[in-house]
Parts: sequence; structure tokens; C-alpha cells
Amino acid sequence: MSVESVVQAVYLVAAVLFVLSLAGLSKQETARRGVLLGMTGMALALVATVALALDRSERPVGVTAALILFVLLVGAAVGTWRARTVEMTQMPELIALLHSFVGAAAVLVGFGSYLTDPVSSGASGGADGAGETIHLVEVFLGVLIGAVTFTGSVVAFGKLSARLRSSPLLLPGRNWLNLAALVACGGLLWWFLTAGESGLVPLLLMTLVALALGWHLVAAIGGGDMPVVVSMLNSYSGWAAAAAGFMLGNDLLIITGALVGSSGAILSYLMCRAMNRSFVSVILGGFGAGTSAVAQGLPAEQGTYRETTALEVADRLTAARSVIVVPGYGMAVAKAQYPVADLVSRLTARGTTVRFGIHPVAGRLPGHMNVLLAEAKVPYDQVLGMDEINDDFGETDVVLVIGANDTVNPAAQDDPASPIAGMPVLEVWQAREVVVFKRSMATGYAGVQNPLFFRENTAMLFGDAKDQVELIVQAL
Ligand code: TAP
Repeated sequence: MSVESVVQAVYLVAAVLFVLSLAGLSKQETARRGVLLGMTGMALALVATVALALDRSERPVGVTAALILFVLLVGAAVGTWRARTVEMTQMPELIALLHSFVGAAAVLVGFGSYLTDPVSSGASGGADGAGETIHLVEVFLGVLIGAVTFTGSVVAFGKLSARLRSSPLLLPGRNWLNLAALVACGGLLWWFLTAGESGLVPLLLMTLVALALGWHLVAAIGGGDMPVVVSMLNSYSGWAAAAAGFMLGNDLLIITGALVGSSGAILSYLMCRAMNRSFVSVILGGFGAGTSAVAQGLPAEQGTYRETTALEVADRLTAARSVIVVPGYGMAVAKAQYPVADLVSRLTARGTTVRFGIHPVAGRLPGHMNVLLAEAKVPYDQVLGMDEINDDFGETDVVLVIGANDTVNPAAQDDPASPIAGMPVLEVWQAREVVVFKRSMATGYAGVQNPLFFRENTAMLFGDAKDQVELIVQAL
């Protein structure tokens, strides 16, 4: 049996493992298994690809092996270091940076494939001519998507890590600029297909246009929409990888790219739906530029609020029969998940019914809260999604809102003029008592004031969420 056919068989196994991995990742209970299946698939794919490269090597095998080993070691060392040092709150920016690598790789593969696989003109006709044209189109599209993904991801990384301003860049006629760039790429594709041996010029010109397009597309999107953009770039990076797979004739890369491309697109759609935004309005950018009270310099306060103390909250919790904890971005910032898990297990041990209510876009990346709670070993059956728990607030004694703000804002339902109007929210105000943990009266991510804080049944517990929860645990 040839190395080639063994490698193809291993690729098939790896592809099945990737599909099973995605299926596993869709539920908390099976997520760990999903990750393990994905890792196994990737290890198999890597070994098979290295074996194939050695088999096809035109240089002495030792030299090729040494080169591959060198790049693998560098990649593994950098990857291990970053994965060990990254904070949970920095995860979106790390993902954005990793997408930029996929984009850059697709550009390099495209140029490599074009330069090492010399073609005459794709327009020469006949079966070979058609094959060449297809190859040229693959190269062109791969480089185009890769270049857009590369600069788009670099800008997303810059915005998420506060290295670039997070407000949207609003150039006059920005949508026309994007359209002009796409039309220019169409023209350059025609030139590329008919240029024969001098196709490198239109390919280089298109790369420059695509790099600028990627930069501009993401620069026009405000920081608030960055998580959707990251997931959208995830999708682009998948399509770039699939295009690279076509160029290299690698079926596994095509399958993996398509899986990443479509799952990223589905995730972006789900996130948009959870924020009640249209996908197109996110992609075209401009959101978050002066719509909020804060951006307009309007007074943020809306009446009087009631303050409470950790001791008082401990008393309320002791008397409560049912409690719902609603975490948000602030819990991640404060790293309060461990004392929160401790508090919940103590209350549960006393016979109180305690559950978590998770909004689909709580935090800064999909599943953010679920990951934190899983990290703190909160039992999965206590963690419910918004749709599962929203009807239960009316029969709940105490709701603890820990560092959540926009996701519990009644203005989304009551105020049609609010920038978050129509966004589905957790109806915490229906409960008998609501305690909001935050450090100040500052607004949340969308920059809008929250009328929940001024309701009669709401009490504010100011301070760092971790410190306050620890005080409550002590008092209990
Ligand atoms: P946010 O509305 O961002 O509010 C977080 C709150 O946490 C703030 O009010 C902040 O108030 C408080 N906080 C920060 N650090 C704290 C600390 N150390 N201790 C206690 N409180 C602290 O949070 P959310 O309700 O989770 O909403 C998420 C937002 O992100 C939504 O607007 C959503 O649309 C947006 N978004 C999310 C995603 C995904 S996928 N998750 C995607 C796109 C957009 P203080 O500063 O006063 O403490």
C-alpha cells in the first residue's frame, strides 16, 4: 500500500473525528470529549501530512524532516506559551490573532502555489485550459479571502486589546469604498486569468486591495460588535483554509475549512439574533458611534437607587427558598466564579433551590459564562439558558446579578428608542428581590443606562464582585 493511500485513509478518519468533535462541543456535558476528539483528529492529520511531505520530498528526506521539525517546535513553543499565559478575558483577542495566521497562511499558500506550479494562460481552452483556469481562480480567491482575513483579524486584535481605538472608523462613503474594492478585485481577476506568465502583477495588486479592504471592513465596526466580527473572521479563516485545500489538492483541509467556515457563520448568525441585530448591519459597521447616552454626554442616572451590604444579602439568601444567579462580564473581570460556586454549593446544601441563568451573549465571547462556571466545577444541571429560565423569575425569591448589565436591561423591552431595543433579556426584575453586584453606576458594554438599578425591588451591592461574594460566604 502506498504512503499516499494510507494518508488519504487517515485524513478520512481525521475528518470524521472533526465532525464528532463539533457535535461534542455543542453541549457542556460532552464538550471535554469533543475537545479530545478534535485533538486526536488534529494529531492524526499532522502525522499524516508530515509523512506525505517526507514521501514527496525532492530534497534529502533528512533536510525536509529537520525543516518541518524546526517549524513545528517553534509553533508548539509559541502556542504553549500563549495558551498558558492568556487570561480568560483575553481569549477573544487571542482568537483574533490566531485567525490572522490562518489568513496569512492562505496568502502564502496561494503565492507559493502560483509560483511553484507554473501555468500558462488559463484562457488557452480545452480540458487542460479549464483545469488551469480553475486552479488560477482557486489561487486568486484563496489569496483574496486570506488577505481580507489577515488584516481584518489584526484590526480586531488591536481593538480588542485596546491597542487601536475601539470606536468605528467612519470614512465618507465607506460602503462605496468597499464596493469599489470588490469591483477592482473582479477586474483584477479577469486580468489575472488572461495575463499568461505575467499574472503575478494582478495577483500582487489584488493582494494590496484585499489587505486594505480587510483593514477597512473591520475598522468600520465598533468595539461592541467585535465578538461577532471575531466569529465572522473565524468563518472567513475557514473558507481561506478550504481555498488553500483546493490549491494544495488536500481533501482534509477542504473539509476542515468548510467545517470552520460554516460553524463560524452559524455562530455569527446566532450571536446577531441574541443581540437583535441584523448580520448585515454588523458587517456594514458604524454601530456604537454616538448612539448611547454616554457617547452623547447625557446624564446617565435615572432616579434614586438603594444600596445594600453583604451582610444584608446574606440574610436575604438565608431566608430565600429559590435563588437565581445571573452572571455577566463583571464576573469574568472579577474572577468571581470560584466564590460564586462556593456560595451556590453552600446554599444548595441548606436546601435552597439555586440555578444560574445564562444569557447567550453574556460576557465577551460565546459560552463565556459557561466556561467560567465549568472551570469552577458548577454542576451542569444548575446552569440554564435564557429560554429555559426566563419564565421562572416570577417565582424566585432572590436574583443575584453578578457583573451583568445589558443582558438584564428592561429598556430592551420597554424603550423602543434604546440602542438595545428588541434584544432578548433575562427578566430578572420579575423576581421578589434583585441584588446587583457592580463597582459603580457605570453603564455596560452597549453604553446605555439600566432602569433595573432604580426599581423598587432592586438593591445595589457596590464593590468588586469577588470581594463581595466572599464577604457573603463568610457571613453565611
Ligand atoms: P455588560 O453589559 O458588559 O456589563 C458588565 C458589568 O460588569 C458592568 O456594568 C460593570 O459595572 C460590571 N463589572 C465590571 N467589572 C466588575 C467587577 N470587578 N466587579 C463587579 N462588577 C464588575 O455585561 P453583560 O450583561 O455580560 O453583557 C454583555 C455585553 O457584551 C452585551 O452588551 C452584549 O451584547 C455584548 N456582546 C457580547 C457578545 C458575546 S458573544 N458574549 C458578543 C457581542 C457583544 P462597573 O464598571 O460599575 O463595575
